[in-house]
Amino acid sequence: MGGTRAGLPVVARTREELREARARLDDGDVAVVMTMGALHDGHATLIRTARRTHAHVVVTIFLNPLQFGPKEDLSRYPRTFDADLEICREAGVDLVFAPTPDVVYPDGDPGVRISAGPLGDVLEGQSRPGHFDGMLTVVAKLMHLTRCTSAYFGQKDAQQLLLIRRMCRDLDFPVNVVSVPTVREPDGLAMSSRNTYLTPSDRETALCLSAALRAGAAAAEEGPSAIRRAARAVLVREPLALVDYLVLVDPHTLVDVPEWYRGEALLAVAGRVGTTRLIDNLPVLVGPRGGPLETFSQP
Ligand SMILES: Nc1ncnc2c1ncn2[C@@H]1O[C@H](COP(=O)(O)OP(=O)(O)OP(=O)(O)O)[C@@H](O)[C@H]1O
Ligand SMILES: [Mg+2]
Repeated sequence: MGGTRAGLPVVARTREELREARARLDDGDVAVVMTMGALHDGHATLIRTARRTHAHVVVTIFLNPLQFGPKEDLSRYPRTFDADLEICREAGVDLVFAPTPDVVYPDGDPGVRISAGPLGDVLEGQSRPGHFDGMLTVVAKLMHLTRCTSAYFGQKDAQQLLLIRRMCRDLDFPVNVVSVPTVREPDGLAMSSRNTYLTPSDRETALCLSAALRAGAAAAEEGPSAIRRAARAVLVREPLALVDYLVLVDPHTLVDVPEWYRGEALLAVAGRVGTTRLIDNLPVLVGPRGGPLETFSQP
């Protein structure tokens, strides 16, 4: 086993293999990037960002059954392990932990789980009951198993990122949570493993989501209702996108911001295009000199 930058990363499938490979990495400086595989440039950007400031990067590839609902088809999720490994090699990953569910959950579905609390019931949580409890439970386990000091997550999954930060703070996990801005295709579509489900015409339709966010952000100086109106105007022109929600919320509480609000807010959208549910969001500064933000100023 090498794990050298030039070669393929070490692949660990079992807890024992992970323990051995992890023991060869320095303590105190291991960043983790958690994924479900089917890696794209969003994942590669997380890895490259982590590599800039950490001696070692561990990538986990695990399709977590606990965070998929009964109507969400886990079996059709794209699996592209060899290509994933090549992306990991190029981006400078030391170690890939790619377990099966029986490795992560040796006693079956865990009876004890992390509860996301009220922040897990809104937005994505409304359409996906139990999703965030399942997500946090596996994130907690993977933090323990990899013994990471930092963990990198994408802003694309804003509610997930917020909940992971809250979990680490509320439950005293000694992990530095770092967010990375959303990586987009040249035409604006947020990269996502699920984009491979889109037909060419779905893909055209899907552009209305990012276009709506941009239109909303362009109205940021005029205040919350102008932002919502501008974004909604784009979405209503695309009847093939079945919008689940379009919200402008406080980035820490996920509560709708009132009309007098000025400051940073999260403009988030979710909808179904064809058979695929897509999400996207944009951090926005509301008020004078307002507009889209790369990231929020306070984590
Ligand atoms: N376009 C993107 N830009 C930045 N980070 C991203 C992007 N897409 C995914 N990520 C991040 O990569 C990590 C792993 O995400 P995941 O494996 O679920 O990929 P995904 O593309 O979101 O897949 P899916 O659409 O099925 O959820 C998460 O932290 C997620 O926020
Ligand atoms: Mg995802």
